[in-house]
Amino acid sequence: MKQVTVLFCDIVNSTAMTERLGAEAMRDLVSSFLRESLAEVHRYGGTAPQFTGEGFMALFGAPRAYEDHVRRCLLAALAIQRALGADASEGARLDLTVRFGIHTGPVVFGPLGEKLPMDFTAIGDTANVAARLQQAAEPGTILLSEATRRLAQSFARLEPVGPLTLKGKGEPMAAYRLLGVSHRRSGLRESGSGHLTTFVDRYSELAVLDNFLRQVENGRSQTIGVVGEPGIGKSRLLAEFRQQLARGRVTWVEGRCVSYGTGIPYWLLLDLLRSNCGIVETDTQEAISEKVHSGLREVGMDPEQDSPVLLHLLGIGDIGGSSALSNPEAVKTKTFEIFHQLSIKASSRRPLMLVLEDLHWIDKISEEFLGFLAENAPDARIMMLATYRPGYRPPWIDKSYAGQTPLQPLSRDDSLLMVRSVLSAERLVGVVTEEIVAKADGNPFFLEQLALHAGEAKNLRSDLMVPDSIHDVVMARIDRLPDETKELLQTAAVIGREFSSHLLSVVWKGPGSLEARLRELIRLEFISERVATEGSTYVFRHALTQETAYGSLLERHRRTYHGAVGSALEELYGGRTEEVAELLALHFGRSDEAEKAVDYSILAAEKSQRHWANSEALTYFGDALRRLDSMPVTEPNGLRRVDAVLKQSEVQYAVGRYAEHIRTLEEIRSIVDKTKDPRRRATWHYWIGLLHSVGGGRPEVAIKFCREAAEIASASGLDEIDALAEACLTQVYVVAGRLRDAIETGERALASFEARGDPWWAARTLWFLIMAANYLGEWDAALNYERRALEHSIAVEDPRSKSVQALGLWRMGSTYIQQGELERGLQCCNRALALAPIPRDAMMARAAIGYAEIKAGRVDAGVEQLTEALAWFDRSDHRYAYLRYALWLAEGHLRRGDRASARPLIDEVLNTSRRMGYLHCEGLACWLMGDGLAAEAAPGAEDYVERALRILEEVDARNDLARAMLTRAALRQTAGDVATARQLLNQADAIFRALGTRDEPARVEAAIAALDRNSPIPLLAERR
Ligand SMILES: Nc1ncnc2c1ncn2[C@@H]1O[C@H](COP(=O)(O)OP(=O)(O)O)[C@@H](O)[C@H]1O
Ligand SMILES: [Mg+2]
Repeated sequence: MKQVTVLFCDIVNSTAMTERLGAEAMRDLVSSFLRESLAEVHRYGGTAPQFTGEGFMALFGAPRAYEDHVRRCLLAALAIQRALGADASEGARLDLTVRFGIHTGPVVFGPLGEKLPMDFTAIGDTANVAARLQQAAEPGTILLSEATRRLAQSFARLEPVGPLTLKGKGEPMAAYRLLGVSHRRSGLRESGSGHLTTFVDRYSELAVLDNFLRQVENGRSQTIGVVGEPGIGKSRLLAEFRQQLARGRVTWVEGRCVSYGTGIPYWLLLDLLRSNCGIVETDTQEAISEKVHSGLREVGMDPEQDSPVLLHLLGIGDIGGSSALSNPEAVKTKTFEIFHQLSIKASSRRPLMLVLEDLHWIDKISEEFLGFLAENAPDARIMMLATYRPGYRPPWIDKSYAGQTPLQPLSRDDSLLMVRSVLSAERLVGVVTEEIVAKADGNPFFLEQLALHAGEAKNLRSDLMVPDSIHDVVMARIDRLPDETKELLQTAAVIGREFSSHLLSVVWKGPGSLEARLRELIRLEFISERVATEGSTYVFRHALTQETAYGSLLERHRRTYHGAVGSALEELYGGRTEEVAELLALHFGRSDEAEKAVDYSILAAEKSQRHWANSEALTYFGDALRRLDSMPVTEPNGLRRVDAVLKQSEVQYAVGRYAEHIRTLEEIRSIVDKTKDPRRRATWHYWIGLLHSVGGGRPEVAIKFCREAAEIASASGLDEIDALAEACLTQVYVVAGRLRDAIETGERALASFEARGDPWWAARTLWFLIMAANYLGEWDAALNYERRALEHSIAVEDPRSKSVQALGLWRMGSTYIQQGELERGLQCCNRALALAPIPRDAMMARAAIGYAEIKAGRVDAGVEQLTEALAWFDRSDHRYAYLRYALWLAEGHLRRGDRASARPLIDEVLNTSRRMGYLHCEGLACWLMGDGLAAEAAPGAEDYVERALRILEEVDARNDLARAMLTRAALRQTAGDVATARQLLNQADAIFRALGTRDEPARVEAAIAALDRNSPIPLLAERR
């Protein structure tokens, strides 16, 4: 028994037409109709064994088994319609009206390869139903039976008609009119009916899946993993589940991870996108763009708004000017937002089934997204259904809404059943079956392979005894192939689990017909074919088959093939190599072509970095550098090394691996010094300078590097690099406590970026300037900078880009909080947090919130927040930020009288900042130390506070200076020097008022009142 899809087609009203045209003309017309139609039938792999007067019957799925016989049949019917001129745009070729009936069902066949029985009786009932449907069809329409509809629902657009009462059939029956077939790529096993094996067991697992789906239907999103060894039947279970779903119950969307995709950012998300929009390798940029647009439109999203980022990820298009690409974080946020929305919208009409195959090979970003989606769509009707091998832990594993169902080996009885469904009855030898069942250990893939092996082997007994492990079984089957065909399979394995005939034909140089060999491989069930209008794609039926074929290649040959695949890809993608940078890096990386391997690794790294896939980017850079180690030391290779190191600076800065990258930069110093290229030399200098400053290095060193960079750049007229160097210098000056210098340098760089129209670096420079302005206590200037930064961010990005908004908001909040506008500050920071920024920004916002709580008198809550934030910065190597927040936390401890907790923090800041020369930090630490000691009436307080005043005066941190004056006033009062105390208070008051600080004047007032009453002036720290 085999499942096939039968199509009947005939000309409507042929008698009347014959009368009108005459018999001869009619005969001509009919024969052109048959010629055109049969051409389409053959194109989609069907056969037409029967003619019926003015029509014909065609079969799909026999004698050659196709998994997707339903799809092929529908595509053929539509193509015939088009060919006959139903499609007016192509110009009517034959003025004919035809109608179609289609039905899917079992037919009886002998063993594989036997001749097809041509008579109706063998095809029996299945053909009858199709014929009757055709008779019932309106002229010009294609009617499908319920059985076909069930298998086609995922990709066909249908409209119910009927129920129809068919001639010779008692019961009325449901029928559907075919409106179209979507371009979406079909799932690997969309019909599930092309299998030779009968589905066994697994009914309880199906029930589990169904249960989860019910929960989803009740409006609770769920995730479930099907976990099991390779070949245990995960994919098959999903295929069966899909098949049993009632019509229109879910929207089924499928994506698959591949073994080499782990390091390719966004792999799974892009696979989902590609498969859903029907994007294929041979598509032009315009075609891809069009498909993405219509995919978005279909779910009611705005393509104008949302397609740019997606196209960017697909490697084409630009998001409104290249500068936007320099903020990969925004790209990621935006992508998550779009996929999130896509999922939500897609799930609004009916539940969305997100099928995620082979998750153990997932890439980091897609994994992060899945976690994000699982967390952020609790009420959406989304079911994530994943398969993976044991050992993998999906991101949602610990959640209450997540389930996991392990697949156990098949029982003995079920194993027997399976083997019998593969082996034809005559060959079924009891002993052999037993042997297979014993060897396969209940693994369906092994059972199937062993049974196929037994079926192919000439001498059953002796052949079967040899191979033991599944690898050997698969290998033995591969080895039985004719040499050329075997080589073809191995070549295909180099390309990957999935390969297009197009790419394969470029790589494969063997003799004979490629097509014929592929057919042979399909017949032997090594691979299966997916048809699409754009040409065929082939898939290894099982990952293990591909792995085995790949593993069987000699290393030497593998390298050659990989090189050939790389070159073929280069050719295929012409000017669009960026799109497939990762694949090029992969293939050349495993080939002998070292230079290309390095160049494409760097290209792939830069692409990853733009996608905010930092760890993947670092891996690619690492690959490039490792490869270079084994290459001759030539000048071009030296420059390659320099590029690989310099270009990873942005990532290393983002992930905060400052010290490590400084070392790497030092390693290439001698090559950089030798090179005549000023651009590379200057770039090297400003990066190392910037990293020194934030990573806890000495500011003088950092300043020197940045200055040197600026000099090299301006000597060569590289204005842009000059500005970059100055932007970095701004940050370095802030750390050094040279706040006025920072402002001056930053303003210069800013003007240059603004003139050049580089909003990203303009915004970044502004962020450095804001720090300087805050430290100076110049709140208005800081707020002004913030507004400008926000404007630039909007120019850089899509205006709703959340990450940039978040960044702007917490900075603004932080200024307000330091100014004493606590409520406003809190609002800004909370809004920033609501935008779900990246961890670093979230921590900065929380630190600021903590400080606001402390200032507002909710000290315990504030201390808690800050403690957490501080621990994060400590772990993440953000040395300078750590010191800053340590001071805020220490202030919190002091305010609640917990001097024991404050002391070690202050000591640490004091030691580090003295050692490194962080002047401003040192001043603040001295002040807090003095204030704490004063509260304990301990000696030395005055020394510290005086030192603090000197330093704060020097760096011109006026707000901090005034705060320290209050402490000093208290100390003078204790010493009986009321006049100086009063003078200090007046001075502080004037400063606060000039700066516009909101909360401090009240403290000054309280201090003056205390002085007047002759009671102790309150310190910052609670007195003992
Ligand atoms: N329950 C089952 N009954 C019959 N055949 C099965 C069953 N489960 C799996 N198979 C067959 O075994 C082979 C391997 O199954 P597959 O689902 O691809 O494994 P996995 O996805 O776990 O690696 C497939 O050809 C499949 O049709
Ligand atoms: Mg699978």
